Amino acid sequence: MRDAQPRTIYLKDYQPPAFLIDETELSFALGEQHTQVRSRLRLRRNPAVAGVQGLELHGCDLELLSLAIDGEELAEGQWQINGELLQIAEVPDEFVLECHTQIYPQNNTSLEGLYKSSGMFCTQCEAEGFRKITYYLDRPDVMSVFTVTVEADATRYPVLLSNGNLVSAEDIGQGQHRAVWHDPFPKPAYLFALVAGDLAVVEDGFTTASGREVELNIYVEEKDLDKCDHAMASLKNAMRWDEEVYGREYDLDIFNIVAVDDFNMGAMENKSLNIFNTSCVLAKPETTTDMGFQRVEGVVAHEYFHNWSGNRVTCRDWFQLSLKEGFTVFRDAEFSADMGSPTVKRVEDVTLLRTAQFAEDAGPMAHPVRPDSFIEISNFYTVTVYEKGAEVVRMIHTLLGAENFRKGSDLYFERHDGQAVTCEDFVAAMEAASGIDLGQFRRWYSQAGTPIVEVSGTFDADRGSYALTVKQSCPPTPGQPTKEAFHIPLAMGLIGEAGALPLSLEGVPADPDTADNTQRVLNITQPEETFVFTGLAEEPVPSLLRGFSAPVKLRFGYSRAQLLRLMRSDTDGFCRWDAAQQLAVMEIEAAVAALQADQPVNVADDFVGACRALLADDALDPAMVALMLQLPSEAYLAELYHPVDVHALHQARDEVRLALGKQLSEILWQVYQRCQSDEPYAPSAEQIARRSLKNCALSYLMRAGGEQAVAAAVAQFENSKNMTDRLAALTQLVNSPAEYKAQALQRFYQDWQHEPLVINQWFQVQAMCQLPGTLEKVRSLMGHPAFDIRNPNKVRALIGAFCGQNTVNFHREDGAGYAFLADQVIDLNRSNPQIASRLLVPLTKWRKYLPAVQGRMRAELERIMAEPALSNDVYEVVSKSLAE
Ligand code: TRP
Ligand code: ZN
Repeated sequence: MRDAQPRTIYLKDYQPPAFLIDETELSFALGEQHTQVRSRLRLRRNPAVAGVQGLELHGCDLELLSLAIDGEELAEGQWQINGELLQIAEVPDEFVLECHTQIYPQNNTSLEGLYKSSGMFCTQCEAEGFRKITYYLDRPDVMSVFTVTVEADATRYPVLLSNGNLVSAEDIGQGQHRAVWHDPFPKPAYLFALVAGDLAVVEDGFTTASGREVELNIYVEEKDLDKCDHAMASLKNAMRWDEEVYGREYDLDIFNIVAVDDFNMGAMENKSLNIFNTSCVLAKPETTTDMGFQRVEGVVAHEYFHNWSGNRVTCRDWFQLSLKEGFTVFRDAEFSADMGSPTVKRVEDVTLLRTAQFAEDAGPMAHPVRPDSFIEISNFYTVTVYEKGAEVVRMIHTLLGAENFRKGSDLYFERHDGQAVTCEDFVAAMEAASGIDLGQFRRWYSQAGTPIVEVSGTFDADRGSYALTVKQSCPPTPGQPTKEAFHIPLAMGLIGEAGALPLSLEGVPADPDTADNTQRVLNITQPEETFVFTGLAEEPVPSLLRGFSAPVKLRFGYSRAQLLRLMRSDTDGFCRWDAAQQLAVMEIEAAVAALQADQPVNVADDFVGACRALLADDALDPAMVALMLQLPSEAYLAELYHPVDVHALHQARDEVRLALGKQLSEILWQVYQRCQSDEPYAPSAEQIARRSLKNCALSYLMRAGGEQAVAAAVAQFENSKNMTDRLAALTQLVNSPAEYKAQALQRFYQDWQHEPLVINQWFQVQAMCQLPGTLEKVRSLMGHPAFDIRNPNKVRALIGAFCGQNTVNFHREDGAGYAFLADQVIDLNRSNPQIASRLLVPLTKWRKYLPAVQGRMRAELERIMAEPALSNDVYEVVSKSLAE
């Protein structure tokens, strides 16, 4: 147990900074033994704040060598260090503070601040990493103009980069060189970046709408030069898209991306010097799956979009994180939808939300999109802040319409350019530009939890009317026992025998602006309300929450026949897919019951028939077919029940897969053949769709068993020229009893041992294997020479995938999976607290499971809690998980 309780920070305690930093000059002498940092800060009192005497700067793990004010060195006693604060009791109103510190980047395993990755120096300052570099006002509402000098060995570190424009570069003798960078845009410290290394570069350019020539560079290790084309193309597409859709242009002459191996997250939007995890920038068909290509496109766009939604307009404090992240995720999702298949993108995003985010909302770390408090801000880079935050922005878009939303974003950027602002400022701009009242809507920012929307319908045949009654509620979350009603946009339609029906809503005139009168957005604002539709000659089936118009759990007591109608003929792609999911859930529930009663598992004929019809219809988008045939994941199923019986659900789901594979095998073979192609690889929506349907067919065929399926998987593994098909085949082989699998794994390793990102996939396929014995395999792979516990990508690929995605094996009945995770968390707590605390998440969900399981999971949390020297990161998550 730790000695001192770490401090909780509250939004309500926010105070503006007592001092401002107009200019920041930093000078780095990078060395192998140590690095020296000299800062020269032009400070003055904030005229808006009265009554504060001394100066307090943040600093963490720094060796202070000297401190001077206006050229006069401070004597000991004129300052003191108190935890993470450097306090100087007496300072003038305006002064220059010079500070000289020494740090040891080569020993920094936390990957925050300045550290080394594969021999290069790099930085990660968001959220509070800058204080590990030098003493500073490390808070986002202190914005400063930075000038950065970097000196390093010219042979080891020929490339020296920082934010903004290069001012000078010169040799300074003794094998050293120096570069000076200047960024004209004032920015908070979290957007500072520095890179020094032996890097190769791919160069390109972009001309902005107003004619500015921008130099685009992607810096990577020499061996990766052939994997930058996709990121570069994505960057240019994103730059054009932001001009066209948001009217936002790039504002400097250089835009640099650097790829690093060791990185806690996906990428970082530092002004003009984005730093990327290699996994989010490198891609080529031979080594990267379709999903990998899409991730690169999405993350490159995300970081680029931050230049406006994050950098030009930034956050006042870290409680406002969703201001930049929710908005930017919404922007990148819309971009990806425009570049590829909108329905597929939407279904993927909703799936993530309904599994990971709904689970977060139902667990001990539940928090609003704008949290009220935290112990460690790194723990709040969550699916709630990012993905639910993006849903909140999407709802504003739905309520305002595209045109008003654009007026709102224009006003937001115009009002707040160069400022550090709040979520409230964003909503206020949307409201002012559109004239639409978002008063009640603001509760989405302050209330945690997933609202439940229960809908029922009654048809009055005599009057030809259909009444929809909508009730909403929201379960309690930590610190929020009761909730007020949300303002929920409920997009809907009514589906008749022959398709979508025109809508006429009693008491509401038809909207003259909408050409499509078969869809409406209902404004749900009350705990309960009823909407009556008239002029109906038949009982309709309601198509509800179209496009997933709000992040809620929707309940409607659909019959099988109604779901089959929606699955067949709903005009909304999302609802069509969701109807198929609901039918599949019914099949899995029936299988659970059958297995409990020791009966054989059968899948209902009407569902098999509907699946067969999908497979037979070659006019349908193959991507939709693949999505609709994929059974709901175990993670999604777990959200539907309390308590969750992991093993019963796993077995039932697997039996349904088996039954479908057997009954549909003939048509699955036809589809598998029909989707083969030997065109050269492209990550286009069309090709991705075809590959996903083909591999979906293969997975059912493999489950159904037989030599023919194994032969097809082996042939696909051996002959594919792209990683999507190769890895899909390998996954099938690894999860089957096929003898060939050991050979396949070995061969794959041999072929790709020099590509770390491919080896991560090799770790991951094995970690996700559903067969017994996987934990032992994972343990032994941790001793493999290619594994490295200090590299977050490897930890995620092996340990993260096993604990987070391999439900049956992680929840082994003897509890060994839980003990394994606790061991890893205890180890990583010392070297990389951010990664330790993220890895821990599956254990925090202990209250979801059967009583015996709860005890075993809880015991492991208690074991972690008893560790001395727990980081704030791990302490916060464990203590909140154990709290009553
Ligand atoms: N702002 C980054 C993003 O675009 C998030 C991020 C990158 C981050 N690296 C980090 C957050 C390290 C915390 C710690 O989403
Ligand atoms: Zn972001």
